[in-house]
Amino acid sequence: MAGRIPQAFIDELIARADIVEIIGSRVPLKRAGREYKACCPFHDEKTPSFWVSPDKQFYHCFGCGAHGTALGFLMEYDRLPFPEAVEDLAGRLGLTVPRETSGAPGSSPGGAPAADDSAPLYELLAKVADFYCSVLQRSERARAYASQRGLTPATMELFRIGYASDSWNDVLRRFGASEQERRTLLAAGLIIERERSGDAAGSGSDAYYDRFRDRLMFPIRDTRGRVIAFGGRVLGSGEPKYLNSPETALFHKGKELYGLYETRLARRPLKRLLLVEGYMDVVRLHQAGVTDAVATLGTATTAEHLHRAFRLVSEVAFCFDGDRAGRAAAWRALQQALPEARAGRELRFLFLPEGEDPDSLVGREGAERFAERLDSALPLSEYLVAQLGEQADVSHADGKAHFVALVRPLLEKVTPGVYRELLLDRVAAALGLPAERLQQWLASPETPGMSPTRVAPAPASSTSAPARQFGRGSLVTQAITLLLHFPAAAVAVDASQRLQLSQLNQHGVAVLLALLEQLGASPAATMAQTLERWRDRPEYRRLSELAASEPLVPDESAAGQELSHAVARLLDAELRRRLEVLIEKARAQTLDESEKLELQALSVAQTRVGGP
Ligand code: UTP
Ligand code: MN
Repeated sequence: MAGRIPQAFIDELIARADIVEIIGSRVPLKRAGREYKACCPFHDEKTPSFWVSPDKQFYHCFGCGAHGTALGFLMEYDRLPFPEAVEDLAGRLGLTVPRETSGAPGSSPGGAPAADDSAPLYELLAKVADFYCSVLQRSERARAYASQRGLTPATMELFRIGYASDSWNDVLRRFGASEQERRTLLAAGLIIERERSGDAAGSGSDAYYDRFRDRLMFPIRDTRGRVIAFGGRVLGSGEPKYLNSPETALFHKGKELYGLYETRLARRPLKRLLLVEGYMDVVRLHQAGVTDAVATLGTATTAEHLHRAFRLVSEVAFCFDGDRAGRAAAWRALQQALPEARAGRELRFLFLPEGEDPDSLVGREGAERFAERLDSALPLSEYLVAQLGEQADVSHADGKAHFVALVRPLLEKVTPGVYRELLLDRVAAALGLPAERLQQWLASPETPGMSPTRVAPAPASSTSAPARQFGRGSLVTQAITLLLHFPAAAVAVDASQRLQLSQLNQHGVAVLLALLEQLGASPAATMAQTLERWRDRPEYRRLSELAASEPLVPDESAAGQELSHAVARLLDAELRRRLEVLIEKARAQTLDESEKLELQALSVAQTRVGGP
């Protein structure tokens, strides 16, 4: 696995890229004043509401709200994960993406090859995949098995399904002539080193054997279509049924989704990803026309999987067998999904009849009936309530208390915001309680299972707006919006004001300060450059929404004035608040010496700032 891409490189990339050229090569753009417009590629429309700004290096659709930078566009339109969008953009500009290698997270232990060494691995894996395909052509038995499983030649070709012959050294002999080559085979997970038994240990190629033997081979490809691993199924019965490549420098099970590349190839507008459990499920669903199906690779769904999925789509549907194992897996998936839940995203759960999987079902019922089932999949909130309802009988008080104890740790996983409020409402309704009452229960230390550090909002504040990262019209938000649209305005806030801001305890101030810091260092940044710095952080989504909102003022100098005005009002409000505290203390005669001095100083400051 390659190391992190240095931020400085991304800055450079965004500085060099031209969003008009990148979007223009995919969508016909028309010039309109200083900007360009087109019919939006992300939703159906007849009159153009999609705008591209060369100044800001940003695009925005007033129809569907899509927006972002050049990198964001590549990710959305070409459905590339971030690192691949970076590769793509760099490739166009003739730049090589540098990687931070030292101690990069994700680099496998045990002397796995560094990023630069991965080219031979990709090359080898591609050749071996071709080889498996050619072996399949020669094996009557393997082809018979594939067709008995309902796979058409076109599907086999699309997924590049092959066959590993029943031999201990077919791959080894063909691709491992030298020790160097054998090392690469080993690093790719294709051969296994024999256990050494004293001096009788084999030498040369005798020291290894093929990992995959007599199996139908499913190449696992990254989103760019490069083979990174394999899954192999026994023909008929045998153990293990599926054998997967081990973790290698290129392959990390907990991250990859099988079928994602093929989903991209389908080139349909991608709204949703359907997460299923098996290789065969993905392949058969695609064959039936359900081209948004992907699978985890013999592991439970991880947060990383979901994170990846939500970079591409706003809806994820899970599909599970209706049996006990399937239900257990669904519950585990729900736990992973809760931190990813938020307004604007949809998470659904589809349970199939017992004993069926998508492969068997779509084979029996056809794609249309399967799509109907998908349409009726349970939203996360309904599934959660139904599942807990089975564990706690809410018809009496004790059962309700038990329900609350069960639901609390789950609610705590959800980011505060609109989604959590709605989920809370749904849970309250299931309990037959007013939402305020549920909030009280959740906050009450008497209910078991309470975690003292993460108390739900206290009842007094529960009726007011839910805590957001930074509210819509707040001064902090206004300041941030101004900075995004007019980065150069950052100079309007001086160092002493920054210092005072840093003492403010208010939502979003940390973001505002970080932006001021960032733009102070590079005042000529475009909106796109500013935003790309935030891509990996939780605030990114909110920031890019603000970037897509209307600028509050027409130009830079107005922005500077507005910004310093907003900051002054913020600091003034803080000063008043502190004064009130000190005056209260003075009345109660509990001021200490330093507080007395502070009160004097603040009184003077206030007559200056806030005086009539
Ligand atoms: P299933 O046992 O549900 O198999 O495993 P399946 O997908 O229905 O396969 P068929 O229809 O019998 O061919 C689901 C997934 O779990 C992983 C594989 O990724 C498989 O697709 N798995 C299963 C393994 O990794 N190893 C195993 O031995 C079994
Ligand atoms: Mn199956």
